[in-house]
Amino acid sequence: MKLVVVGGGSTYTPELVDGFARLRDSLPVGELVLVDPAADRLELVGGLARRIFAKQGHPGKITTTGDLDAAVDGADAVLLQLRVGGQAARQQDETWPLECGCVGQETTGAGGLAKALRTVPVVLDIAERVRRANPDAWIIDFTNPVGIVTRALLQAGHKAVGLCNVAIGLQRKFAALLDVAPADVHLEHVGLNHLTWELGVRLGGPDGTDVLPRLLAEHGDAVAADLRLPRALLDRLGVVPSYYLRYFYQHDEVVDETRGKPSRAAEVAAMERRLLEMYGDPALEEKPALLAKRGGAYYSEAAVELAASLLGGRGGAGERGGAGAPGGAAQVVNVRNAGTLPFLPDDAVVEVQAGVDADGARPLPVRNVDPLYAGLIAHVTAYEELALDAALRGGRNRVFRALLAHPLIGQYAYADTLTDRLLAHNRDHLAWA
Ligand code: G6P
Ligand code: MN
Repeated sequence: MKLVVVGGGSTYTPELVDGFARLRDSLPVGELVLVDPAADRLELVGGLARRIFAKQGHPGKITTTGDLDAAVDGADAVLLQLRVGGQAARQQDETWPLECGCVGQETTGAGGLAKALRTVPVVLDIAERVRRANPDAWIIDFTNPVGIVTRALLQAGHKAVGLCNVAIGLQRKFAALLDVAPADVHLEHVGLNHLTWELGVRLGGPDGTDVLPRLLAEHGDAVAADLRLPRALLDRLGVVPSYYLRYFYQHDEVVDETRGKPSRAAEVAAMERRLLEMYGDPALEEKPALLAKRGGAYYSEAAVELAASLLGGRGGAGERGGAGAPGGAAQVVNVRNAGTLPFLPDDAVVEVQAGVDADGARPLPVRNVDPLYAGLIAHVTAYEELALDAALRGGRNRVFRALLAHPLIGQYAYADTLTDRLLAHNRDHLAWA
């Protein structure tokens, strides 16, 4: 089996490679190709990746290249984990929206739109080249904003599934708190990428007992602290929002808190410099502990699970009862709505449990969604549709429309000013601007 990682020079790659090494029984990777335009990073990351495979006795071959077309030739699956403009562009996304009193975040609000505009054309070009090389290859998209990027890929007819680690992170966290195996925790996970709620937490599978009330009663403080949301909010909602809901439920507090503090991009850039130094040490043969300070925990496990299910149902099931379930192993992914959330268009991309097998990911039915969440989901879906339109066709007015539609922006004066700032900061990355 040949896998390709685009953005393979990312400091995250050792996390992925460690997952491939540990979980080689579910996903027998014969050849792993790391593709990246940054040759210096690629050499450091590739070196450590090979040492991780060697240390763990993995027989697979790891190669590195800047040549995407050569890399994807004969690939079974291509993972996209790229960041157009690097941490420097992220730094901008996290900064200029704050000047208007709006949250500065890489996937939410105006910063998220900037990232979408930079990223969608690049990802579509890569996907086209993958399809040309091998129309059967699966594309697994980690590239943010995952909801919009996946929608772009599906709309262009690509064999793509979007993936994020929020759900698997909560599954692991809840399992530890409840003292059960992660595979026994089935999340009723509903919403859009980075805009989700756990409506239920079932033990043993989708029909198991819902232990969410007990989880909140017994471990509410721990869950709230992890999400950086008030415990009282969780109790009043009776569901667990993802930590990205903080940008909505506590928008103004987050803005006050982040103003004048170093951005997350700056923190990450410093960590990356240190990580790359460590990766260059030939004595290092495992992913360093420092990598756990990044947000990507368990993303290798989510990737292995998904790739294993897509590439012929090799039993990558994350949940007991998932593997034998109709429609393949159950996993939370980003997939075409197709009626799952009846208040959204069919071609919206939702993040829900799906049955995954060699034919792809099909969303599993979800329970009725409270208007408290359905309203916000519908609102952000409309924004995502307009954001994608702006990313595909360009134009100042399309950017303005997307910003005006975003629930965290909404006002004419903000949308107008943010449009100017977004364009001023991103001209180098937007062919049409
Ligand atoms: C989580 C999100 C990812 C995001 C990451 C940021 O893992 O699911 O989509 O890229 O956090 O982490 P960072 O360490 O870059 O801030
Ligand atoms: Mn994510």
